[in-house]
Amino acid sequence: MFVGGTSGVGEGTVKAFAQAAQGRAHIVIVGRSRTRAEEIIASFPKTSESQYDFIQCDASLLKNVVTAANEAKDKISGPLNYLVLSPGLFHLKGFTPTSEGIDVKMALHFYSRWKFIDELIPLLDQAVASGQEARVMSIMDPKNAGLLDVGDFGVKKNYSLPRAAQQIGAYNSAMVQEYSPIHPTLSISHIYPGLVKTRIARDVPWYLKPAFSGLLLLGKTSEECGDWMFSALLNEKYQKGGFLLGEYGEELDVQRDSAENRALLLEHYRKQVAEATES
Ligand SMILES: NC(=O)c1ccc[n+]([C@@H]2O[C@H](COP(=O)([O-])OP(=O)(O)OC[C@H]3O[C@@H](n4cnc5c(N)ncnc54)[C@H](OP(=O)(O)O)[C@@H]3O)[C@@H](O)[C@H]2O)c1
Repeated sequence: MFVGGTSGVGEGTVKAFAQAAQGRAHIVIVGRSRTRAEEIIASFPKTSESQYDFIQCDASLLKNVVTAANEAKDKISGPLNYLVLSPGLFHLKGFTPTSEGIDVKMALHFYSRWKFIDELIPLLDQAVASGQEARVMSIMDPKNAGLLDVGDFGVKKNYSLPRAAQQIGAYNSAMVQEYSPIHPTLSISHIYPGLVKTRIARDVPWYLKPAFSGLLLLGKTSEECGDWMFSALLNEKYQKGGFLLGEYGEELDVQRDSAENRALLLEHYRKQVAEATES
């Protein structure tokens, strides 16, 4: 299942996966754009065993994540082996709350990703119980992440674009480290895609588009990046445990948060998700 598989890094990864599976896979793409999902699915190899599904979801709202995950459980109705998360956006606005009161970037890059994981853990566990592998991969940025700011979870008090970006990276890394001991039979990774030519800068103001497009031109294509993400997803070294990975699938030696601070993040995440989904 590829959340954010309708464009960019996620598209490159799901295409690499589909080619490698040669039509012998059930693949679910989650995103907002049905048109893009249908185009991507049309490019996949097909056999009598192929099953390709799209689930439409605005994942900036956690309530929508629960609905989409329920739809996924119906469609998959069995074990889930791979859950790849890359939904995201880039804009230069400040704190932009969703109707659930969470900044939209924080929602897409962090809260909704871990809510998908929480909702789909039973299917991942089912894979392990059947002797199959179960791997989760969040594609974001463990490389340039800061340390957790435990006084401002959700970056609600002191928002700036660099702080939000650093905290998003830190949150994903800390959750990998928190979830892997709780779910020791799973592989859970947070991976940096590097600089990639994608549609990520589509929401920047028109006068900045040339600069962003120029910068992204220096990056890999989404296909090249997808091949790297796919090889990390299947890497034998990462069958079980928590991993912070670089753009070529290498393990990163990065500064880690204390267990105490990570536990505070987990507590905050659970509270925020409960507030959003139970109201
Ligand atoms: N490109 C880079 O150089 C780079 C570098 C480091 C990290 N990243 C991170 O990698 C991730 C993927 O970025 P990308 O470059 O591949 O960008 P992209 O081409 O713009 O793809 C973004 C994906 O997120 C989905 N998405 C956006 N808003 C959504 C929403 N409200 N609900 C559900 N899905 C939503 C989009 O699908 P729909 O439009 O169909 O909803 C699309 O599949 C992002 O988190 C980004 O920050 C990218």
